[in-house]
Amino acid sequence: MSMLKVNHLTKSFGGLTAVDSLSFELKEGEILGLIGPNGAGKTTVFNCLSGFSPPDLGEVLFKGQAVTGMKPHAICQMGLARTFQIVKPFLTISVLDNVMIGALIGERSISAAEKKSMEILHMAGLGSMANTEAQGLPLPMRKRLELAKCLATDPLVLLLDEVMAGLNATEVDEMISLIRQVNSKGVSILMIEHVMRGVMALSQSVIVINYGRKIAEGPPEQVVKDQGVIEAYLGKEFLDAQG
Ligand SMILES: Nc1ncnc2c1ncn2[C@@H]1O[C@H](COP(=O)(O)OP(=O)(O)O)[C@@H](O)[C@H]1O
Ligand SMILES: [Mg+2]
Repeated sequence: MSMLKVNHLTKSFGGLTAVDSLSFELKEGEILGLIGPNGAGKTTVFNCLSGFSPPDLGEVLFKGQAVTGMKPHAICQMGLARTFQIVKPFLTISVLDNVMIGALIGERSISAAEKKSMEILHMAGLGSMANTEAQGLPLPMRKRLELAKCLATDPLVLLLDEVMAGLNATEVDEMISLIRQVNSKGVSILMIEHVMRGVMALSQSVIVINYGRKIAEGPPEQVVKDQGVIEAYLGKEFLDAQG
C-alpha cells in the first residue's frame, strides 16, 4: 500500500523554484532516503508534506487521501509526523513534558499520556533524563528528543530531517538502531540525511534531488554509483572511500 504519494510537487520562493515538479511514493513499511546537496530543496519538501508551507502546485496523498494544503496539526493527527532539522524543544520545560505534548494529541488522560511518554523515552535512551529541562540536553540527546516527540503522536509515517547531523560514529550507530526499531513497529519513514552510512544502512530506496528536481532513484548501492549523483552530490572521494 502507498502511505505517501507525491505528484508534481512544486514550490517557489520569488524567482527560485526550490522544489520542481517532484513525484515519488513511500510504501507501507518502507524506509526511503531523500538526499542531495545543501539547498537542493529537501527541507522544503518536508514543509510541503507536513503542512508548514503549502505547495504552489502538485498533490500530496496520505494513504490515498489528499492532504495538500491542510494545516500541520490536522496532518499530524492523521498520522504524519516530522522532525525539524533545527531541533526545537520547549527549552524550559522537562524532557518528559516535551514528549507529553505530543502524546496528548492521542491520549485522553494525563496519566495515560505520561505512561506512554515514559515508554517512548526509555526506548529512545532518554528515560533517565525525563525530569531534566530540555535545554540541559546535549545535541545527541536533543536529536533523540526530537524523534521521541514525534513518536508520541503515534505516527504511521515519520519524516526525519537530518537526525544524524552532528553525531559522532557511536551516536550515529545508536540512531540507526533506534530508527530500525521504530520502523520494525510498522512506521514508514522518509529520511533526509547527509550521513551516508545511515542512508546506506537503513533505506531500501533513495531519491536524489538537485535544484528541486529528482536526478536519480533506486536502491542505495545503485544510486551511489550513478555518475550524475557523484557529480552533483557525493563527489569522487565518496566512491573511492567505498573501495
Ligand atoms: N522560506 C524561504 N524563503 C525563501 N527561500 C527559501 C525558503 N526556504 C528555503 N528557501 C530556499 O530554497 C532552497 C531550498 O532550501 P531547503 O529546502 O532548505 O534545502 P535543503 O534542505 O535541501 O538544504 C534554498 O535555495 C533556500 O535558500
Ligand atoms: Mg534542509
